[in-house]
Order: sequence, then C-alpha cells, then structure tokens
Amino acid sequence: MLKTHWPAQEPAPAPAQALVLGLVEPTTIAQRFGDAVATAAVAARFRANAGDRFAFTRLLEGHLQHVILIGLGAQSASAATTRKLAHDAAKAANAVGATHLILDLRGALAPADARRLGALVVEGAHLGLYSYDRYLDAERRRSPALVELSVLSDFKDMSQGAERGGVGAACIARARDLVNGPAELVTPSFLAETARSSARAHAALGLECEVLERDECERRGMGLYLAVARGSAEPPKFIHLRYKPRDDAPTRGRICLIGKGVTFDSGGLSLKPSDAMMGMKMDMAGAAAVIAALEGAALLQLPWEIHAIVAATENMVSGASYRLGDVLRAANGKTVEVDNTDAEGRLTLADALVYAGHLEPDLTIDLATLTGACIVALGPHIAGVMSPDEGLTRAWLDAAQRAGEDMWRLPLPSALKELLKSPIADMRNTGDRAGGSITAGLFLSEFAGDQRWLHVDIAGPAMVKKPYGVTDEGGSGFGVATILELLASDDPILERTPAI
Ligand code: BES
Ligand code: MN
Ligand code: ZN
Repeated sequence: MLKTHWPAQEPAPAPAQALVLGLVEPTTIAQRFGDAVATAAVAARFRANAGDRFAFTRLLEGHLQHVILIGLGAQSASAATTRKLAHDAAKAANAVGATHLILDLRGALAPADARRLGALVVEGAHLGLYSYDRYLDAERRRSPALVELSVLSDFKDMSQGAERGGVGAACIARARDLVNGPAELVTPSFLAETARSSARAHAALGLECEVLERDECERRGMGLYLAVARGSAEPPKFIHLRYKPRDDAPTRGRICLIGKGVTFDSGGLSLKPSDAMMGMKMDMAGAAAVIAALEGAALLQLPWEIHAIVAATENMVSGASYRLGDVLRAANGKTVEVDNTDAEGRLTLADALVYAGHLEPDLTIDLATLTGACIVALGPHIAGVMSPDEGLTRAWLDAAQRAGEDMWRLPLPSALKELLKSPIADMRNTGDRAGGSITAGLFLSEFAGDQRWLHVDIAGPAMVKKPYGVTDEGGSGFGVATILELLASDDPILERTPAI
C-alpha cells in the first residue's frame, strides 16, 4: 500500500525521490528546470505529445532526484487516461528505485469530479506496482521500492477519493491474482476457499459465504452446470457470497452478480486445439471479478444487498465427460441438447441465473469470458454488453466510462433465437459462427426469467497479451472498477421502478 499525501506545495527534497510531471506542452520545462534541460528535452524529441517521455536526474539540496516528464498532448480528460498517467508514473518511479513519488499533475488534468479524479490517481498508482510474484524467487519477488505518494494538483477534494482508489486497486489486484494463478492452483475448491476466507475476514462488515456441494446442486436440479463438471477430477463448488450493509443500514435494493467460474476450459470432448487452450486458466475471470468486487462493496459499505454467485467447475475430458448430443435439464426445467461441449460457460451460467432468480433481485449482472466471437467483434480490449433493459445498459456503460473500462453494447435480436432450436429439446447450446456472442447472450436470456438482467462478455479484456492501459501482460481484473463505480453511484435508474 502506498502512503498517500495531498500537499499544497512540493515536499522538501529528500533521498530517493522521483518527481513525475504530466505535461501538456514543453514550454514550461525551461522555466522550471532551466535552459539546459529544456534543450536536452528538445534534442531527445520530447514535445509533450502523448507517449513522449524524458527523464533526467538532478541534484537538489544535496539529494539526487529522478525527474520524469510524461507527455500528455492534451489535458487528461478521460478516466482511462488519468488512471494510466498515475500508473505509468508509479511504474517509472519504482523502476528507478525511488521510495517517494511526487506526482505533479498541476495543469495535467481536465476539470472533473475531484473526488473521482483522486480515486483514479490512487488506483492507477497502486496498479503500477502490481505484479504476480507467487512463483518467483526472492530476488525477483522483492516488494516495490515505492512506498509513498504525494500528489500535487489544481483540484481540492481529490484526497476524498483516496479510500475508494485504494480499495479499488486492492480488489483489482485480488482479481488479477486469481486470474494469473494457474488452473492447477486456482481450482473450484480454491475459489470457494478464497470466497470463504474473504467472508471470514470481513464478517464484521457484513460478508457471508455459502458453498453448495455437488449433491446439493443435484437436489436443486442444476443439470446443465453439473454436466459440465462431470468430466473433471476436481469437485464442482457452487459459491454464494453475500454482503449486507452493517447494522441493518437501509439498502437501495438487492443485486446479484454472477461470474463465470470455469477454472480451466479444455473444451471438453469438443476439445480445443492446443493454441486455443493456452490461456484458458483465465476462464474464471468473471468469478474473480465478482468475488473481489464483493469484498470492495463491504469495505466501502455500499448501500446495497449484494450476492456474488459462481458455479465453479473445470471443463475437462474423461470417460465421465458430458457428450455431444446429450440432453440436459436445467434448474428451471428447460432441456438443452449439447451440440458443442466447448460452449460450457452458458450452461454453468444458466443454472446460476435460475438460482439468482430465486433471490428476487432488483437487478442481475453477469460477467463471463464467454465467447471468442466477442474478441472477433470488438477486439481484445472491449467488453460486449447485452441486455434487453435500456436504462440498466445506459447506467452500466456510463459507470464503465467513469471507471475507465472499455465496453460496447451489442444487440439481442430475438430473430436469432431460431439458431438455438433443437428438434429434440427446448434448445441447443450453440448457434452459428456468425453472431456467436449474441446467440450466447440469447441463450442466457432464456434463463434470466423476469430478472432485470445485463450480460457482460469479457473474453477479450479479462487478460491482456501486451501491456494495455493499467495492465501489463496477464489478468486485468476487468469489471471490478465498473461494478464498484456503478454501485457507489446514486444513479436512480438502478432502483426497480414500482410496477404500475
Ligand atoms: N471460454 C471460451 C471463450 C473464450 C475464448 C474466452 C477465447 C477467451 C478467449 C468459451 O467457453 C468457448 O469456448 N466458447 C466457444 C463457443 C463456441 C463453441 C460456440 C468459442 O468462443 O469458440
Ligand atoms: Mn469453452
Ligand atoms: Zn469457457
């Protein structure tokens, strides 16, 4: 954790400081650091354009100070660029061994909600220090040099966002750890234990956890989920983590967050080719996001009753695997003919959606690494959002923008339900290649019942191959920031409108 300060003036020079400035134009360099530095910056082609960097060291009252200039091109106006600026600054400061980062954002940020700016800066700075180091030796595992952050800015009240930012970053880091953990470690049982220990640690904040074992899921008729689980040597764990605000504080309503929790997706008998299977430890990123977000909701005492639901399982190959052509029965009685065992996520989510429906939530949101087609449609960084509810979609997309996560709406045209028809069952589990994300969404809609429901396909952004935004290679923790932003906002659209 970075100890964060919001001083009105630059802190006094001390050992191991890094000064990072976000610059919109190069003209201020001479005034601040003298002509020699300005000339050197020009020679190094630093023009304060986005992506430009110029670093030097100077001696200040006997202390060597690292100075790093980051070009912005224009004032940082979006949540994503603000968060990234702080991320890059912390990373750069840490890389030169600084213990104290002085982040000078004067002139760098476009005016906006100061509290949110503060949260984004703190969140970004923390994420700049993230690494997954469980399997590294002591040398590479060293904790970050950087321990202190002083932010200089034009906006008062930024400090009020510090707690939000710190909690946000901690939850994102937790979700990343779960995604980065190999499937051999992060099994359904491990996910269940993570949820349980989170509930134990924060029982006083209103977190509780219940895990349904296979026999209980059988009793509840979760035939789709259990079919997926059948081929694995790891037992399935149906995880239900709840949060209720402390002392029976009034709540605005009840929310279900469902996360796809396939801890490894081999494809099952519709086996994935080796290249496509690599990386499938990330198929539980939705589960990681909702479990982590629930801890965040508790720490921030958000005014909602929130349920995180994960039908955790592996999708494996064995003599016990479910087969192509099998007809399964879901917890709501619907029958599904399996035409591809690699379309397993929607099967697990279907039974989770039916379970959520019994809780009579005001709204239900699922996050799932559901389809490769979503990456084809929107590229590797943008999540696909599907919902029949206009208001909820707007609220979610707005929250995503405020949180700095890229999302885009896809339609749910009921005409494509045709593609899910089966001659011998209520439906089959895949449509055509064309519109693959949409038919997956339409499949889920059959199990949402009368819930006010929104589906987020995070197949692309859950894990990045090349550094993007505030994520280096690996799990991103995508979704956590938007969930927390949505549930901390006072958007009235979230309340269920009374039936007339
Ligand atoms: N977990 C995958 C989706 C996925 C693919 C996520 C690539 C991230 C990166 C999902 O279970 C899956 O295999 N979907 C199939 C659906 C198809 C069989 C209809 C797919 O996308 O190919
Ligand atoms: Mn699959
Ligand atoms: Zn999958």
